[in-house]
Amino acid sequence: IKNVGVYTSGGDSPGMNAAIRAVVRTALYHNLEVTGIRRGYEGMITGDLFPMDRKSVANIIQRGGTILKTARSEQFKTAEGRKMAYDNLKKHKIDALVGIGGDGTFTGAKVFGKEYDIPVVGLPGTIDNDLIGTDFTIGYDTAINTVIDAVDKIRDTAESHDRLFIVEVMGRDSGLIALRTGIAVGAEAILIPETKTDLNALYHKLEQGRRDKSSKIVIVAEGEEAGGAFEIGRLIKDRFPNYDTRVSVLGHIQRGGRPSCQDRVLASRVGVAAIEGLLEGHRNEMVGIINGEVAFTPFENAIKHFIEINPNFLKIVDILSL
Ligand code: F6P
Repeated sequence: IKNVGVYTSGGDSPGMNAAIRAVVRTALYHNLEVTGIRRGYEGMITGDLFPMDRKSVANIIQRGGTILKTARSEQFKTAEGRKMAYDNLKKHKIDALVGIGGDGTFTGAKVFGKEYDIPVVGLPGTIDNDLIGTDFTIGYDTAINTVIDAVDKIRDTAESHDRLFIVEVMGRDSGLIALRTGIAVGAEAILIPETKTDLNALYHKLEQGRRDKSSKIVIVAEGEEAGGAFEIGRLIKDRFPNYDTRVSVLGHIQRGGRPSCQDRVLASRVGVAAIEGLLEGHRNEMVGIINGEVAFTPFENAIKHFIEINPNFLKIVDILSL
């Protein structure tokens, strides 16, 4: 391997910059050249590539977003798009890739790595934490801390007005942001895509919950099956017209901001491991951390899997919200 291409793809996540920095500096440390690819697979197809050096990643470890920019490429889903990408990589003499992203990124990398003889290693960069092969993804810790900051503020005003708030957090396919933050903010209920939403159970909970509670918070993951926070809010308003109910959708603030210490360290560890893994012959795998140790997982095992929700987490909410 002589020249490694690095890209970020899919939804950005805090800590992606720390990961880029680790990849670039480790490659240089091992006397490899590094090429930055802008906007993920889009940039590969259009040829938006540039050489990177130590300075190009200076002063970015603390910054949210991604200096390489990101995109979700439709063209890369086609064989012609991938051929154009490969031709551009060849033209720039790139002979290995490090892709930072989530499910969509690794779906593309898996197909590309099978079609063309170019080793690809992935780093788990998504706020959703919905990949197999790592205990945590880069950005998840920052995002959940952003959520609890926001919901703590909502709790202040909810308490002052004796209100019920339905708060929607991100995760169209995954309830892992909702689950952890719901526990951390002392939510009265959590609704996630992985479990069937039992509206009667929710009504019962809101009715029977301690009566001297003046505020109530229900955390709803974006992909929850009954229709998300606005629909749940509408149903609750119908059912409990005497509750003062409000809906708040946190949205993309969850994707931005300075990465937490945990995300920076995770990004640095897997960034180093990705380059060293490529040099050792790893390909078509994601590198994560499991139980404190670096672990490589084939792309096909890392993605498109139903992530089991720990039932203890849901039980904790039931016990502690009474
Ligand atoms: O996958 C990351 C994520 O933030 C999900 O939690 C969310 O459902 C989705 O991306 C939102 O995507 P977009 O930025 O395209 O609105």
